[in-house]
Amino acid sequence: MSIRIAVIGTGIMGWAHARIVAEDMPGAELKVVCDADFSKARRVADELGASDVSTDASTIAAREDVDAVIIASPDATHPTLCLETIRHRKFILCEKPLAPDVKGCLEVIEAETAAGRRLVQVGFMRRFDPSYVEMKSELREGVVGSALMLHCVHRNVSAPPDFKGFMAVSNSAPHEFDIARYVLDTDIAAISVFQPKGFDAKTVAPIFMVVETTGGQLVNIEVNNNAGYGYDVRGELVGAAGSITLAAPIHTRVNADLASFERYPVDWIPRFADAYRLQNKAWLRAVQTGSWHPDAASCWDGYWASLVAEAGVKALETKSRVQLNAVERPPIYA
Ligand SMILES: NC(=O)c1ccc[n+]([C@@H]2O[C@H](COP(=O)([O-])OP(=O)(O)OC[C@H]3O[C@@H](n4cnc5c(N)ncnc54)[C@H](O)[C@@H]3O)[C@@H](O)[C@H]2O)c1
Repeated sequence: MSIRIAVIGTGIMGWAHARIVAEDMPGAELKVVCDADFSKARRVADELGASDVSTDASTIAAREDVDAVIIASPDATHPTLCLETIRHRKFILCEKPLAPDVKGCLEVIEAETAAGRRLVQVGFMRRFDPSYVEMKSELREGVVGSALMLHCVHRNVSAPPDFKGFMAVSNSAPHEFDIARYVLDTDIAAISVFQPKGFDAKTVAPIFMVVETTGGQLVNIEVNNNAGYGYDVRGELVGAAGSITLAAPIHTRVNADLASFERYPVDWIPRFADAYRLQNKAWLRAVQTGSWHPDAASCWDGYWASLVAEAGVKALETKSRVQLNAVERPPIYA
């Protein structure tokens, strides 16, 4: 029997999720697409063949013709929609962040804990990206010895008009915080945030973070939301006996005008196309079998990303190193 899926939010991410459900997830059916803007939902439904369209996200979880829900509406809607869906004991793939703040994450954790089982996967899709997966498995196999440092770079072409400076930490960097925890298999102890001098104060400035893990490794993260030239995510893990560098999925190399070059994607969708697809398929398997993929990000991982982000924003504002204090991990996330 097909798993009937509702996608809430049909913007950039919701459209991408709906397309994966409709075209790349055998065993799943795109049942409902929901957007506060009817015309957007209608367009996606018509393009991808969804059976129904809704503008009221609060009614989705209760529908008898919906088995599982993908939440891709704005950040602020995530905790309420998760709580409602958990109340109906349905599986959720919630785009990152789990909630816009730590308090919201803890509320979802509390509801999931009360439900007695994991129902939520958070959309930290890099955990399914073949380059990060390979980096982690090479590290586990001891190819470069023990991990010492992780260098991360996250660059966008340009920040959206409503993007504020602190969002480099709270909105972009959580992917880096999560992937550092995932690859290094450790938690985070402290964060410091720096900004270079000389940037245009009217634009969103680059941010340079130093994250200390509980295992003693150092992670440096550059986020530049106005890099201009393309969407570019880089990573290098430095071990005691070598290093592992991420390779982006490049399919062609252009030779022209006395030059040889590769093109950058304009945004994250092409760079992480495989990761989104593999993430969603793993989630579908969890919905079908009740058993989670070991790499799937849980609410606990969502909580950690928000915890580091909140500490990072404080570090940016106070220009000081901020230590992290996590709550005790509930047993369902062991
Ligand atoms: N995993 C990733 O790589 C990644 C990348 C980008 C964004 N995101 C996250 O995905 C989510 C969506 O981001 P986006 O870039 O697609 O945004 P978007 O602005 O393109 O789309 C959001 C959509 O939600 C709709 N919407 C707003 N309020 C709603 C409500 N109450 N109910 C139903 N629909 C509502 C809007 O009309 C819009 O169509 C955000 O939480 C964002 O942080 C994740």
